[in-house]
Amino acid sequence: MRLGTVIATLAIASGVATAAVAAEVAPGDVAFTDDGVAMSLTGTAGDPDEGAKVFKNKKLGNCLACHANTAMEKELFHGNVGPVLDGVAGRYSTEQLRAIVTNSKQMFTQDTVMPGFYSLEVGKDVTKDLVGKTILAAQQVEDVVAYLGTLKE
Ligand code: HEC
Repeated sequence: MRLGTVIATLAIASGVATAAVAAEVAPGDVAFTDDGVAMSLTGTAGDPDEGAKVFKNKKLGNCLACHANTAMEKELFHGNVGPVLDGVAGRYSTEQLRAIVTNSKQMFTQDTVMPGFYSLEVGKDVTKDLVGKTILAAQQVEDVVAYLGTLKE
């Protein structure tokens, strides 16, 4: 009887996990249109506080390596490879911001130095450990997009 209970519990747990994965759009299935990416990658609203952490984390977004952002003035280093992100929510829609973070190459050019954060074509000179993986998880992209939405002038 006890073994039966364990198996039943496992079945429920894996059912939940499968449902969570199914709700997520796979990197190759993201639908880009002229307006950007309309559909949430996960169906779960992004959390701007989590997004701010991903944004400044050098192992995750590392966005500050290339972008200055006055809202993070306490962080020491702000790069200048890309545009300053102050007020970016006024320049782009949520759909466009999602497209830029998901795969910058779809919004800019194939040659952009900005990585595609939820794309299997991450960019040039990708380290071996990233082959076949995305830099960010789908929910991390949604969180970063929610954070960018707070950057109003
Ligand atoms: C290796 C450098 C690099 C990194 C890292 C990087 N970007 Fe970019 N980003 C760029 C460049 C360069 C552009 C300008 C587009 C172009 O010409 O390629 C850009 C453009 C943008 C834009 C459009 C800004 C505007 O005003 O037009 C947004 C939004 C953006 N990046 C967000 C992010 C976010 C969020 C991250 C982190 C998850 C990030 N970027 C990481 C280089 C980078």
